[in-house]
Amino acid sequence: MLAARPSRTVPAPAGDPAHASPDSQDWTPLGTPWPTAARRSGPRGEEILVGGVGLAQLAARFATPLYVLDEAEVRARCRAYRRELPEADVLYAAKAFLCGAVAEWVEQEGLGLDVCSGGELELAVTCGFPPERMVLHGNAKSPEELAAAVRLGVGRIVVDSFPEIARLAVLASTDRPQDVLVRVVPGIAAGHHAAVQTGVEEQKFGFSLDSGDAADAVARILDQPHLRLVGLHCHLGSQIADIAPYLAVVDRLVPVMAAVRDRYRVVLPELDLGGGHAVPYRKGEPALDVPEFAAAVTARLAEQCARYGLPVPRLAIEPGRAVVGPAGVAVYRVLAVKHSPGGLTFVAVDGGMSDNPRPALYGSRYTAALVGRASDAPLAEARVVGRHCEAGDVLVPSVGLPADVRPGDLLAVPAAGAYHLSMASSYNLVGRPPLIAVRDGAARMLMRRETLDDFRRRDIGR
Ligand code: LLP
Repeated sequence: MLAARPSRTVPAPAGDPAHASPDSQDWTPLGTPWPTAARRSGPRGEEILVGGVGLAQLAARFATPLYVLDEAEVRARCRAYRRELPEADVLYAAKAFLCGAVAEWVEQEGLGLDVCSGGELELAVTCGFPPERMVLHGNAKSPEELAAAVRLGVGRIVVDSFPEIARLAVLASTDRPQDVLVRVVPGIAAGHHAAVQTGVEEQKFGFSLDSGDAADAVARILDQPHLRLVGLHCHLGSQIADIAPYLAVVDRLVPVMAAVRDRYRVVLPELDLGGGHAVPYRKGEPALDVPEFAAAVTARLAEQCARYGLPVPRLAIEPGRAVVGPAGVAVYRVLAVKHSPGGLTFVAVDGGMSDNPRPALYGSRYTAALVGRASDAPLAEARVVGRHCEAGDVLVPSVGLPADVRPGDLLAVPAAGAYHLSMASSYNLVGRPPLIAVRDGAARMLMRRETLDDFRRRDIGR
């Protein structure tokens, strides 16, 4: 006998414009975690405008799944960093997401670029990004990548292992000396998941300060006539909303710079504190407050340098997620809805862990909203799942969606601009989604959808 289906309804978040309310005619901005200018529109609030363009309209034009990037939001975020830190180098961390247009936007807004592979480096250079405004990272850079960086004139190379020192020493020359930073491990734990905590011992990045490896690396670099040691680098982790770890790292590294001065009479002119600035993925979650960060970190740096009698080094920071994350929205089409005997409602969409592996990798939490159709149904708890062949392919474990959500509906997932497409895979040969830039009511495709033809072209074995 078929049992009656249990259903869990959840109260509609009062006044949350992320959910269309057919009664409302006043389409206020959606607010956190949507792009600043995103708002509902349409006779019944069924559409969501990003950059002045409707998401449902984009889905009809470009098909789903698709990613939308709000150019004005990216540029505004770059400008906020430049405004708050006019004396610092702000380097956009390309690993969050890189394509030619994004490289162009951040370059035009006065940011530098943090690259961590030959691919990111060469893409940025071929798009016209000035190499002298780049920093190259990586715990395992290949000899070819180091050679390309020196040949192209990358501004700073962050030395992360002893073999790199010898390799760089050979590649650089009197005509072409290379500026380098030493990546150190300050022993400070911060970040949203153990997988991204890089400021502590027992992980693969950097030279330990405690073991003496960092001092050894400094000595070896200073011994190389063609390498110029310009500073220290560290990156604590990712999704850090609190300023305290950044102040702690200033406290930890200024004495190290003073020790270098005392021992070698070398004053290091730069200090790079990496990235990691948090953004909200759901309503109510904190962001790192950039003005507060800028004021507190510059004050603490000045204070500590005065204490050790050091000139204040030029500060560098490397935000990735905080530049592009909130500017992106993923749009999926619902393909199936299932109700489990235990009362769960599974809403299966046409993307999943191949375009957003973050929930599966780190347990990251997101929200989702129905777009393209107004519903009078009450909100009910749903689990948005992907289309991949794993039970763990869950995009949003729990979200309130109209109880009548059905195949053919569109769901929009905000805060999708960082570490989605840059970490996307070809799992199950679903194909990576396209990326559409929106601005002032116009849309243009930045990256096209990956097609069967792409898969065939790589498959050259027969
Ligand atoms: N600088 C360095 C040296 C880094 O390793 C990273 C990120 C950044 C800057 C930029 O960090 P952001 O400001 O974006 O947090 N896939 C993970 C994040 C990995 C971050 C790796 N390194 C995630 O989706 O949470």
